[in-house]
Amino acid sequence: MTNQAANDRQKQETSAMVGPPLWLLAELTYDCPLHCPYCSNPTQLSETKNELTTEQWFQVFNQARDLGAVQLGFSGGEPLLRKDLEALVKYSRDLGFYTNLITSGIGLTEKRIGKLKEAGLDHIQISFQGADPELNDAIAGRGNAYQQKFDMAKSVKAQGYPMVLNFVLSKQNLEQITDIMRLSCELEADYVELATAQYYGWAYENRDHLLPSREQLVEAERLVNEFREQQQGKGPHFIFVTPDYFETRPKACMNGWGSTFLTVTPDGSALPCHSAKMLPLTFPNVKDKSIGDIWQQDFSFDYFRGDDWMPQPCKGCDEKEKDFGGCRCQAFMMTGDMHKTDPVCSKSEDHHLIQAAIDSAIEPSTPILKRVNQKAMQHAKNTQLSIA
Ligand code: FES
Repeated sequence: MTNQAANDRQKQETSAMVGPPLWLLAELTYDCPLHCPYCSNPTQLSETKNELTTEQWFQVFNQARDLGAVQLGFSGGEPLLRKDLEALVKYSRDLGFYTNLITSGIGLTEKRIGKLKEAGLDHIQISFQGADPELNDAIAGRGNAYQQKFDMAKSVKAQGYPMVLNFVLSKQNLEQITDIMRLSCELEADYVELATAQYYGWAYENRDHLLPSREQLVEAERLVNEFREQQQGKGPHFIFVTPDYFETRPKACMNGWGSTFLTVTPDGSALPCHSAKMLPLTFPNVKDKSIGDIWQQDFSFDYFRGDDWMPQPCKGCDEKEKDFGGCRCQAFMMTGDMHKTDPVCSKSEDHHLIQAAIDSAIEPSTPILKRVNQKAMQHAKNTQLSIA
């Protein structure tokens, strides 16, 4: 067999083993009118340049769909800032994707909701930062944001979309949990994610000011359960998600590296998860390689597949098929080594780092919260918000 034939055969074998990227996340832009301190966007300015053109996104959608992708999320930053959003939705819908818009609601108008509907958009999720204008707008870093979100949530519902809300919870707003659930009822929400912040990007920088205590979480969960009981099966379906810092086993991040999720960033970088750029790996770009080659052949996508890469205790653990060793980005952020067991796991030799983070959040050593400033990212580290 020639070398070429051997290579082709190896490629075919690898492709057969790797399932399709079922979920494609298209991060259309990192620009955003809000400046939430828990933003998971990269903290580096260079990541915000050279956005893909409309044609380049079309190509990405074509290639991903050919490979078997079925669900497409439009996110950012704020995806509404892309003037071609409707065209992107229409194109991907015509390809057969189930499409989902993940938005702050800022920039949405009744007319635009109508246009997105016409383009075939299946689903809109609006995020809130609090249950009243004062706190919501302070966390979002923008005046009048709450009212705009409120009005657009009503309008989304009125135009026949399922009402899906997302509240990012932290110790800044956890005390409003009951009011948040009341607001969700007022907006006639169908599904509500009560999700505590994930500590990546800016949220990791601001972790001391965001991470609630165990007591706060227990109380919040109690209030959610109490509210659910009072609902007697009526009204919104609430999904309460606690931070993995309070677990003893790690989350199966991304359902396993390179198994289900494919993220394409505004500049065309292809990543197995939205935070992977921070890792000491070189990731491919859709401008240089096809989605098929990236998913099936690229070194970075293959790197943490399976369990060959695992150190102990993951390698010998009977739960490794469940959690795949946890989150690679979290392992890297907390230990400096992306191969290590996720420190959330109580079997990890680095588990004490999680307890140290919880302790440090009780009395933050940094006096004020840093706010994301996408418009002047180079100054972001100096831009601060003092609602803590
Ligand atoms: Fe990157 Fe978990 S966020 S592997």
